[in-house]
Amino acid sequence: MTEWHKSDWRAKPRVQMPDYTDAAALEEVETKLGSYPPLVFAGEARRLKAHLGKVSRGEAFLLQGGDCAESFAEFSADGIRDTFKVMLQMAMVLTYGAKVPVVKVGRMAGQFAKPRSAPTEVAGGQELPSYRGDIINGFDFTPAARVPDPGRMLQAYLQAAATLNLLRAFSTGGYADVHKVHAWTLGFTGAPEAEKYRDMANRISDTLDFMEAAGIRAEASHALETVEFYTSHEALLLEYEEALARVDSTSGKWLAGSGHMIWIGDRTRDPEGAHVAFARGVQNPIGLKCGPSMTTGHLKALMARLNPANEAGRLTLIARFGAGQVADHLPRLIKAVQEEGANVVWSCDPMHGNTIKSTTGYKTRPFDSVLREVREFFAVHNAEGTIPGGVHFEMTGKDVTECTGGVRAVTDEDLSDRYHTACDPRLNASQSLELAFLVAEELSARRGHLQRAQAV
Ligand code: PEP
Ligand code: CO
Repeated sequence: MTEWHKSDWRAKPRVQMPDYTDAAALEEVETKLGSYPPLVFAGEARRLKAHLGKVSRGEAFLLQGGDCAESFAEFSADGIRDTFKVMLQMAMVLTYGAKVPVVKVGRMAGQFAKPRSAPTEVAGGQELPSYRGDIINGFDFTPAARVPDPGRMLQAYLQAAATLNLLRAFSTGGYADVHKVHAWTLGFTGAPEAEKYRDMANRISDTLDFMEAAGIRAEASHALETVEFYTSHEALLLEYEEALARVDSTSGKWLAGSGHMIWIGDRTRDPEGAHVAFARGVQNPIGLKCGPSMTTGHLKALMARLNPANEAGRLTLIARFGAGQVADHLPRLIKAVQEEGANVVWSCDPMHGNTIKSTTGYKTRPFDSVLREVREFFAVHNAEGTIPGGVHFEMTGKDVTECTGGVRAVTDEDLSDRYHTACDPRLNASQSLELAFLVAEELSARRGHLQRAQAV
């Protein structure tokens, strides 16, 4: 593979990126960011890659979730804590319910730039450039807010740094201690999923009491009292990504210093395009969204470009076809992977193929479709004998009403109550737990099936 440089992408066709009008201001921001510390350390990215290698072999499961778009206005300790807490709860459901180690990756601390389906939006007879995420322009529907402002990259960097700081504190400072499995439920209202979670928490507490009585706690304490939590985002705004790219002094290899894992979106995955040109040269784990228009030829070209050494854990293919469409597309892509003998993690994003407009005019996702896509993803892998490695979802710890359905059914009429997203509709805490229980059931059923197959 040819020599790589962090600015190679500039000579490639770019889509979904802003045209900054003030070149001097842009350069000043890039120089500043280039002199700042990276947000993550190469050893962490390599560790995550090793964990994802286990996922690719079916020895662990990937849980990747968080906001569709982080926002400057919604930035708060409570928001970060609530999202982190729901991720911990979901991980606990999977670890306990399916007896599988869970690799936890937030869509957090850098998930600011958004691809859009149209370059402009029309409201009240006015046409303005689309909102592209807080790192690029403002959400307010005014001409001034919609001008791309490079200074926003500095704000995003600072917010990402503070978010990561708090996540690291929560992960190792006692909050994530499994002995607090009950405390994570506080603030939960009486949803059936919360009851189910509480029952499980009781059983976990019992086990911990037993371990303590048997004198096991001391040896196991580190693993029980802390968690590893990683960050990820779509590497869409390449000026920001390039400015935070660093050479890792231990390996001499490049690292995207903006987050542990980065992914390439379904709209920017042209094998000859700018986004692939950037991601190819950094050593981080890379995600690749695969929608219905992904051809087997493109997938093969992308795997060759993004993972030429066929390293396990380097590439996560995130399938996002939409409920009812998984059986049409996933088998052909699985076949392409098998033909190349490629090591990949297969993950399922049941969100982005299931976005519709509600009868009341809101962009929403029926929760039934979300669950159905997850079931279809498992069914195809079970039929093909391949490994369903993870799920990728948009969620918030807040009690929002953005996706319809769920055990505490949100209706089309309810959407207006607490619809807060800056971009796509997210699962609320109760829907997220319901999703985790479904995944745990699918994984347990699979495990039972595999054990029976081995026994005969
Ligand atoms: C996203 O993950 O927020 C996103 C835009 O996804 P996709 O590229 O799959 O549409
Ligand atoms: Co989204």
